[in-house]
Amino acid sequence: MSHYLVTGGAGFIGSHLVEELIRRGEQVRVLDNLSSGKRRNLAHIPGVEFLEGDLVDPAACARATEGVDYVLHQAAIPSVPRSVKDPVTSNRSNIDGTLNILVAARDAGVKRLVYAGSSSAYGDTPTQPKHEEMPTNPLSPYALQKLVGEQYGQIFTRLYGLETVTIRYFNVFGPRQDPGSPYSGVISLFSTAVLEGRQPTIYGDGGQTRDFTYIANVVDGVLRACHAPEVAGEVINVATGGRISLNDLLQVMNGLVGTALSPLYADARQGDVRDSQADITKARTRLGYTPLVSLEEGLRRTLEWARSESSVGASR
Ligand code: UD1
Repeated sequence: MSHYLVTGGAGFIGSHLVEELIRRGEQVRVLDNLSSGKRRNLAHIPGVEFLEGDLVDPAACARATEGVDYVLHQAAIPSVPRSVKDPVTSNRSNIDGTLNILVAARDAGVKRLVYAGSSSAYGDTPTQPKHEEMPTNPLSPYALQKLVGEQYGQIFTRLYGLETVTIRYFNVFGPRQDPGSPYSGVISLFSTAVLEGRQPTIYGDGGQTRDFTYIANVVDGVLRACHAPEVAGEVINVATGGRISLNDLLQVMNGLVGTALSPLYADARQGDVRDSQADITKARTRLGYTPLVSLEEGLRRTLEWARSESSVGASR
């Protein structure tokens, strides 16, 4: 049994990692400031040590990394538009917080830290699919902050020998992704709209594409990155490896629910990337990763969860 720290472990992605680690019999500690994470996301998982604290507090990071073998660093303030609106707050969490956890992990003698990177680092580079050797081109504060975090990780590997691996996530979706904010991931917003029979909003012409990735694939990729040999300092895409436009996504979701809702179109978001698709060759060769759940199956499971949530909400 190894000891894992999951920062942001009460959030959407973090709580899925925690769930799988506990299922595998590992020892798990969570550090979360509950800014967007929820205790409720962990309520069904037994045996998790929960620390409420903020990454910007070095003492909280030191306490959280004590005796830990692996750190899965998921805590961040996500969302491109939120970072455009308030770059300072997200900078503090995403860059200062990452530096603090790296320092604490180094000082605690952690074996490896796996960092939640973002596909947004690629920006609008013209080539599809995006592979890790391509130059980066961040278009928003969020994209830049996530890129700085991965470079900090590489520098800690080089300077101090702390093993770090960046997994670049591509538009992750699934159960427990909170639809409750305008900054929520688009699939969570479309799911609630379609299930409630409301027209979803599409920003721009809906021709932008994304490589939407079901959460189980990400969990598998991250946990492989903890144990794969000779990946310290590497950046690796984890995604489905396809892409779909928002217009087509809505049609697929309409098909799964049996609705025929058309979207409302609004102005495109500032800092939005046009097309995003991952080359997952490196994940296949270096991690032995292969997507376990297709986009359509992931959408089916996500809609099923959203339906059960709304019935829970209705019966409260
Ligand atoms: C970006 C990153 C993603 C990261 C996420 C964190 C890229 C390609 N992806 O996601 O890896 O995890 O930030 O927050 O940079 N949209 C609508 N209607 C809505 C909401 C969104 O049309 O109600 C559109 C957005 O304008 C965008 C697309 O849907 O074009 C996806 O948006 P969103 O789910 O917020 O994620 P990204 O910003 O693509």
